[in-house]
Amino acid sequence: MKDPGSVFNSSANRRSFLRKGTFAAGAATCGAALLGDGLLALSKAPEEKSGRLTPGDAAILRFLAAAETLETDLWQQYNELGGIQDGELPGGSGSAAYTAALQVLDSDMPQYIHDNTEDEMTHFTFINAYLASKAADTANLDQFRTLPSSKATGAQQIGRLTNLMQLTVDTSWWTRYRSRTKNPDFGDMFDQAVPGLNAGQFPGIPRDDGDLTPPDHLQAIANTAGFHFAFIEQGGTSLYPSLAQRVTHREVLRILLSIGPTETQHFQTWQDKAGNAPPLTDPTNGLVFPNLNAPPFGGEDFQTSLIMPEPTVFLSRKFPVCSIIRPTETKGAARGAAKALTANGLFIGQSPQFFELLLDLASDADRARRDVDE
Ligand SMILES: [Fe+2]
Ligand SMILES: [Fe+2]
Repeated sequence: MKDPGSVFNSSANRRSFLRKGTFAAGAATCGAALLGDGLLALSKAPEEKSGRLTPGDAAILRFLAAAETLETDLWQQYNELGGIQDGELPGGSGSAAYTAALQVLDSDMPQYIHDNTEDEMTHFTFINAYLASKAADTANLDQFRTLPSSKATGAQQIGRLTNLMQLTVDTSWWTRYRSRTKNPDFGDMFDQAVPGLNAGQFPGIPRDDGDLTPPDHLQAIANTAGFHFAFIEQGGTSLYPSLAQRVTHREVLRILLSIGPTETQHFQTWQDKAGNAPPLTDPTNGLVFPNLNAPPFGGEDFQTSLIMPEPTVFLSRKFPVCSIIRPTETKGAARGAAKALTANGLFIGQSPQFFELLLDLASDADRARRDVDE
C-alpha cells in the first residue's frame, strides 16, 4: 500500500525528491545575490548544457553538494555569533563575549570564520549549479532545516540542519598529521589532543546567554569551536582527494582538485589556531583542555608549533616516508565522511528521513567507478 506520508521509500523515490528539490529553490535559500542572474538562467536552460555527466560523477558531485550544504549551515551558525556579519554573510548580529573568547585563539578569528563560511556557501552553490547545467539532480536539504538555533543574543532564530550544541569532537586529527610512522589508511589509531572533547557532548557555540559566564566556561566553548573547526576542515581535506580517484570526466576531476585544496587551506589555518587554545578546565562540566606542550603531552606528536604535516608512510611501508594528506583511501570515503559527521553530534535531533537520505547520497557516491578508456 502506498504511504503518502513518505517520499523516502526507495532510492528511486529519494532521487525524484532530489530532482523536485530544484536548484532554483536552493538558490533562493542561499541568496540570489551570490548567484547572479547568469547561473539562475543556467538552470532554466538545460538545452545549453554541454554533455552529460556519468551517473557516478553526478552521484559524487551530489554527495559533495549535500556535504557542503551541511558545512555551510554549521559555519553560518558560527558566523552569526562569532564571525563578521555583513553583506556577504547576512544574518545574526554577533555575541561580543563569545567573539572575544574566540579572539583569544587569534585576533583575526572573526575574519577567518567569515571567510570559511563564505567559501562553503560558494562550494555547494557552485556544485549544484554545475549539476543543474548538466541536467543532473541537485542536492537540496531545505526540508530538513528543522533543528533549533542557539538562544544566545546574536543568533538568528531559524531552522538549522546541524546542531552545534552537543558536539563530540574527535581531536585525533592533531596527532594524525604529526605522526611520522602512522597513517589512517593502514588502520593505524591516533591519540586525542583533547581526550575529554571526544568523550562527551559539549557546545561549540553559547546555547543561550547563560553560557557567557563564568569566563572559563565561555573560553571552553570557544576552545571547543577552535578544535571543531579543524575537525571539519580536515574532513574536507581528505574527502576531495578520496573521491577524485573515482570520477570520470576531466572537468569533474578539475572541480574536485580545485575545491579540495581550499579545504586544506582552511584546515591548516585552524590547526594553527587550535594550538593557541588556552589550557583550562571548564568549571561547569570538568572538560579539560590540556597543555599540549608539557608532559604527559609534548614531543613531536603534540607540540603546538608543529603545524606543517610530518612525512609518514604512504601506499606501502616499503617506500620512504612522504608528506601527504591522510587518509585518501577512496573505498567507502563518502560513507566514512557521513559517519564521522554523524558521530560528531551535528545531526542530533534530525529525522530518520534525513539519515536515510544522507546514507543514500553517500552510498551512491561510493558506488561510482572511474569509467575511462585509457
Ligand atoms: Fe567546502
Ligand atoms: Fe570546508
